[in-house]
Amino acid sequence: MSFYYVKKSDPLCGRITVSGAKNAALPAIAATLLTDDTCTLSRIPNLSDISVMTDIVSFLGADIQNTKKGVFEITPNIKRITAPQELCGRLRASSLFMGPLLAKYKRAKIPLPGGCSIGSRPIDLHLKGFAAMGADITVSHGFVSVSAPRLSGADIYLDFPSVGATENIMMAATLADGKTVIENAAAEPEISDLAAMLRKMGAKISGAGSDKILIEGTYSLHSCNHKIIPDRIEAGTFMTAAAMTNGKITLCGVSPSHLRPFSAKLCEMGAEISEGTNEISVDCGRRMSSCSIKTLPYPGFPTDMQAQFCALLSTVPGTGIITETVFENRFLHIDELCRMGADIKTDGRSAVIRGGRLTGANVKATDLRAGAALTLAGLAASGETEVSEIEHIERGYEDFPEKLRALGANIEKNET
Ligand code: EPZ
Repeated sequence: MSFYYVKKSDPLCGRITVSGAKNAALPAIAATLLTDDTCTLSRIPNLSDISVMTDIVSFLGADIQNTKKGVFEITPNIKRITAPQELCGRLRASSLFMGPLLAKYKRAKIPLPGGCSIGSRPIDLHLKGFAAMGADITVSHGFVSVSAPRLSGADIYLDFPSVGATENIMMAATLADGKTVIENAAAEPEISDLAAMLRKMGAKISGAGSDKILIEGTYSLHSCNHKIIPDRIEAGTFMTAAAMTNGKITLCGVSPSHLRPFSAKLCEMGAEISEGTNEISVDCGRRMSSCSIKTLPYPGFPTDMQAQFCALLSTVPGTGIITETVFENRFLHIDELCRMGADIKTDGRSAVIRGGRLTGANVKATDLRAGAALTLAGLAASGETEVSEIEHIERGYEDFPEKLRALGANIEKNET
């Protein structure tokens, strides 16, 4: 079993380049099924989630060439419309195949994505959108089947600005008959990136990045060459690592505007931040102080940065309150942080965090971002920390220990 061995580290310093965004690459891979042509995707991060997604596409019949680091050429050649249970069970984002298969091949059969540690993760909003566009939907034996001879454009209001539902409905609508309007749509940068790729393929989409997206259906889509946006959550995770060690780092290859929700919070805590066109520098040398956070859909503070900030607030003077409004069970890292000496009291969806000193301990990654948070905590804690179940972390962070070591962190990956 692999684990990270982490020791208290000096202030992080130096510069690293951020990888492509996992949460933009996954829908982009699904979107390639909307055409018969070959699509080239670049800046695809080398992650286990990406491998599972490309394995599913291969299973469905596609030809995939990983021509060089981070570059994939995908030619659909779809022969099946049923995605494999064993692969889909490992990746919730497999639900994103429904929209493209339904639109291009008139049907799809996908295993119902199970819940995960952070919540039940339903797909009712995805299905509500497909039904509004005329699809027949049946759920049986753990699979959801969707079918429609031809989708029709529809006006769809999302009860919650779901990222996945917005992506799935937007992809399906590109080949529907007529106009689709998605209201209360998610506005995350990953939505805008998917829309940019779809427009390169010939889709007619406007409003992506706002809460109202308009899609004018077209008859077919063609090939494209698309470079994935940088990973804002990876960038935020390293910014948080700098803050936890009073370091000063520069992140290259980022989109600073995507980082604003947590850049602003770090400035509020005492960090000095300077933005370039594609880079951001974070100086946390001065004494940091606590703050309070409420996670919200973009452009609010991202839920995917909540665990990392829990760890940060555990180490800075003062008391802060973190409220998680997006997922119902996203505090699993707190028990593990408390084993490191953190003073955190939870009450429902809120956590009161009193900053203090952490001590190293053996802790367990319960999910992707919790694992990252515990690794950062180990950089600030006195003594040694072992983070186990790091396969969760390696789903979403490319070369995580290597990048941290490049900034001066005391971390290595060991096997038992
Ligand atoms: C995406 O998940 C991301 N994953 C998540 O990142 C991220 O935390 C989340 O968006 C929110 O930003 C990918 O993009 C692959 P949602 P998604 O649909 O699309 C409820 C990470 O760490 N909901 O916006 O599944 C749902 O239960 C991962 O990289 C419904 O009720 O998130 C949740 O409470 C974790 N019905 C809320 O909406 C639905 O049909 C947000 O879910 C869909 C969602």
